[in-house]
Amino acid sequence: MRSALYPFRRPRQLPEPLRVVVLGATGSIGGQALDLVRRFPARLELVAVSVHRRWQELASRLRGLPTLVAVDDPAARDAAAAAGCFGARLLPATDSAALVEAVAADVVVNGIVGAAGLSPTLAAARRGLRLALANKESLVVGGDLVQAAAGAGGAEVLPVDSEHSAVAQCLCGRAREELQRVILTASGGPFRELPLARLQTVTLAEVLAHPTWQMGPKITVDSATLMNKGLEVIEAHHLFGLGYEDIDVVIHPGSWVHSLVQLRDGALLAQLGAPDMHLPLLYAITGEQRWPLAASALDLLQLGNLHFHAPDTERFPCLDLARQAGRTGGTAPIMLNAANEVAVAALLRGDLRYIDVAAIIAGTLERLPAGPVADLSAAMAADAEARRTAVGLVKRRSRDSARRGSC
Ligand SMILES: NC(=O)c1ccc[n+]([C@@H]2O[C@H](COP(=O)([O-])OP(=O)(O)OC[C@H]3O[C@@H](n4cnc5c(N)ncnc54)[C@H](OP(=O)(O)O)[C@@H]3O)[C@@H](O)[C@H]2O)c1
Repeated sequence: MRSALYPFRRPRQLPEPLRVVVLGATGSIGGQALDLVRRFPARLELVAVSVHRRWQELASRLRGLPTLVAVDDPAARDAAAAAGCFGARLLPATDSAALVEAVAADVVVNGIVGAAGLSPTLAAARRGLRLALANKESLVVGGDLVQAAAGAGGAEVLPVDSEHSAVAQCLCGRAREELQRVILTASGGPFRELPLARLQTVTLAEVLAHPTWQMGPKITVDSATLMNKGLEVIEAHHLFGLGYEDIDVVIHPGSWVHSLVQLRDGALLAQLGAPDMHLPLLYAITGEQRWPLAASALDLLQLGNLHFHAPDTERFPCLDLARQAGRTGGTAPIMLNAANEVAVAALLRGDLRYIDVAAIIAGTLERLPAGPVADLSAAMAADAEARRTAVGLVKRRSRDSARRGSC
């Protein structure tokens, strides 16, 4: 049986107030973590936050919350220091990973987007902190490294993704041996029923119009391509110690059932709720406690029916690409993730069509053979090589489509 990152035992009771660090505080997850700090002022103490570049947005979000601040990008950090709006609370020469290494804390919420979240995840794991992990890319890129670091450091890694949180909520108090299979639900995104031919011409605004969730731009694009679900399959593999054949995906357009587990006696357990990340975030921060949260409870009679169907892999090739990379292992998931980040960034800039995202990822994986990952530097080297290859493929595609356009 594979080892699992999810603790399969009650997380330790920590004294309150819990000292919380929020990484990616300007993001969708980061903002909701700040909401929770405001909602539980006696039980959660915000000790530090980080952002990448948008320090002005952070200044307006903190609205009087006294906390240490790290800005990851050096040029943005200098600009924030020159503006002086955080005073001595702005830490010089400190990025997210250095912040996690230095600050006295109990819980780290990792709300960074992309592979950049891996180093701070590893820092929290090495220090034996509780990690409320939204940054799924950490596990896609460095699942085995995180597992080794958390094992050595004694960290508790609790998922924030609503699907994996649902699995954790169903598993609370159960032994690993009782778990047979997980079933991750996917909304299917905005293009679930669009005629296939129309996928060629969808606009960026249509890609970003997610039917059920309000999220940051990268995960919203990933939800439209279903790469998000593919990344979540790899995340579930590392979190729950399951083989890929025991991780299923079903389309559930309502997003009410956040995911299910099948136990070895055949019982299926599900967690249901409104599409609202505050609950899974609080569940992870508190170490699987149930604090009062006036989350809008579901009215089953209003829901009426729950619908499920199989994902259409012709429509959503990214799901199979991710599953295949997960099965191959080694550097394959790293390269998949890097190519996806490059393709999504190009799509968001207007340099790539939606329909070309999967082709960039497939082209990158075809060109680069997978190898083993001994350590973080090997992972980062594979990431960099895949980014270079994907950037070249994006350039070629946009040249080709410019040529087509001018004919
Ligand atoms: N949003 C959701 O509801 C949701 C649900 C489940 C899982 N997740 C996962 O949670 C993570 C965050 O998603 P999100 O939607 O909150 O993203 P988001 O709104 O785009 O926010 C991303 C945050 O990461 C920071 N960041 C970006 N690039 C960085 C870099 N290179 N180094 C350090 N920090 C960087 C950004 O800082 P700046 O603002 O300064 O650029 C921002 O604070 C993703 O892994 C996503 O898959 C999100």
